[in-house]
Amino acid sequence: MKSDEIRARFLEYFRKRDHKIVPSSSLIPHKDPTLLFTNAGMNQFKEVFLGKEKRPYTRAASSQKCMRAGGKHNDLDNVGLTDKHHTFFEMLGNFSFGDYFKKEAIEMGWELLIEGYGLPEDRMLVSVYQKDDEAYNIWSKDIGVDPSIIYRLGEKDNFWAMGDTGPCGPCSEIHYDRGKEFGCGRPDCSIECDCDRFFELWNLVFMQYKRDEKGELSPLPSPCIDTGMGLERLATILQGAKSNYENDLFRPIVERLLELGNLEQGASRKEDIAIRIIADHLRAITFAVSDGVMPSNEGRGYVLRRIIRRAIRQGQLLGFAEPFLYKLTGLVAHIMRNPFPELMDSRDFVARVCLAEEERFHTTLTQGIKQVEEVLEKVESSKGTIVPGGELFRLYDTFGVPLDLVEEIAAERGLTVDHKGFKQHLEGQREKARLAWLEGAEEDVKDVYRKLAPRIKTTFA
Ligand code: ALA
Repeated sequence: MKSDEIRARFLEYFRKRDHKIVPSSSLIPHKDPTLLFTNAGMNQFKEVFLGKEKRPYTRAASSQKCMRAGGKHNDLDNVGLTDKHHTFFEMLGNFSFGDYFKKEAIEMGWELLIEGYGLPEDRMLVSVYQKDDEAYNIWSKDIGVDPSIIYRLGEKDNFWAMGDTGPCGPCSEIHYDRGKEFGCGRPDCSIECDCDRFFELWNLVFMQYKRDEKGELSPLPSPCIDTGMGLERLATILQGAKSNYENDLFRPIVERLLELGNLEQGASRKEDIAIRIIADHLRAITFAVSDGVMPSNEGRGYVLRRIIRRAIRQGQLLGFAEPFLYKLTGLVAHIMRNPFPELMDSRDFVARVCLAEEERFHTTLTQGIKQVEEVLEKVESSKGTIVPGGELFRLYDTFGVPLDLVEEIAAERGLTVDHKGFKQHLEGQREKARLAWLEGAEEDVKDVYRKLAPRIKTTFA
């Protein structure tokens, strides 16, 4: 089943059950300063859950554009390493605002998966919040699920909140067992394991509380339902794909990338990961820029910049010596044109923004990475595990390599970085620059720095 059909079937199921089909909101949560990016389908209904806003409907369903990079829900570092984590993804969700609650939410979710999509029951597992006997009983008695596959888990897994404040509540998750061959092989591998055997497919949140700035919970005006299911994961399962990168949302991107770079999959794990990261990031870049995020040095603009730069670096690992991302953003728009036709209107703009950022970062990267490698080798050969703050600062100040990039490359070798030391050097340099300015000490600036100055300027512009 194609992704477009999976999405349509979801919305149609809930439309028939009196849900208002609501379009996705922007990736920029314009009305909510507590959020960096829209991270869940429920974001656009936050005020409705809190009872501050009334809508002409009490049931809704959507397919929401989400970004989990930076902020509370952050999957950036997992991307590429697993079959299932993404920065940008689509969340299918149904919502009840003081209308139905746990029983109906569980019943509908189960019915849609088993009867609507035809998923085999013997592959499913569920989890509930450890103290939620009501949800446990609905699963075991009303639905008739075998208690041996109902897990009672703690707050980390089964209590959901969109951020540090706002609506939240216990949840129940439906998991899918893809089979041992996708797993880590450990005897205790279960739905709690981080490996790729189990896909956490659908999260049903029983919105009951509001968390305030002090972290205290108070009840919502009425209990609500907020659910979220990753379209990409469901597509992978329904299409029998080996990973999300093999389903129809990603496959054409991966194929074009292989073609452009004259590459083959399976050459090495490092290259396969790079291909996945680039495919994921291309979607994030396309959607974010199309929604009006521009690369910058702050907030969501910085997260976008980080994503673009990370994709560029992975591209360099694959041998792309010239800008290449901008050639692929149009393809993302094309693949996603049915649910999000606006992507086709902003296609050229997105490609231009991408190219500008690629041009800006390419030179810095080529020169900077060599330096980073040298520094890391030095740390390793002296049997150290932490990259010193002074070195981090030199890489940043002289070669324009951002700290998070060094951190990422270091992590690939099992090393960490000295954040505190870096900060101290940065502040020290700011103070020195201020004094130099005051004393008119510019004449003392060494020649080498004079030569570098223009480059530093463009790097940080
Ligand atoms: N808001 C819930 C989630 O994102 C459904 O998992």
